[in-house]
Amino acid sequence: MSNPDYALLNSQLRALLDDETDALASTSNFVALLFNALDDVNWLGVYVLRGDELKLGPFQGKPACVRIELGAGVCGIAAATRQTQRVADVHDFAGHIVCDPDSRAEIVVPLVVNGQLLGVLDIDSPTPNRFSASDQAGIEQLCNSFCEIQRSRDDFI
Ligand code: SME
Repeated sequence: MSNPDYALLNSQLRALLDDETDALASTSNFVALLFNALDDVNWLGVYVLRGDELKLGPFQGKPACVRIELGAGVCGIAAATRQTQRVADVHDFAGHIVCDPDSRAEIVVPLVVNGQLLGVLDIDSPTPNRFSASDQAGIEQLCNSFCEIQRSRDDFI
């Protein structure tokens, strides 16, 4: 397994999204770019804040749970606290919501634009301890770029 060059991936993300104003198209390409760039990942997608719950958005992987309450599971905790959750082994995480039973490690990054929570990026791996602190930094940078681009748009999905 090798990690991507996150700086290069960040440039590719900006090039891919810069000229696109449609949030659904941009979010779909954001997810597809990352899914194909990261090794050893079985699910990657966005949950979007809809009212007071998270709703399944663009993703790659097996069909997943559609709604997650704020504060529930890894995604709901990341959304409620606005803090990245990096879980070495979901089997040890009380309240983890199983979507794909193959998932063992998980990282969830809140997506915040102008102080407002848009949703979260969720990435699952079948390998325990898959995500290092440097993966977290790289993925958070990609999410920052995505949010910065969304900031100049009128709406989100
Ligand atoms: N495991 C997540 C649920 C979403 S799936 O992994 C796609 C959670 O505990 O919030």
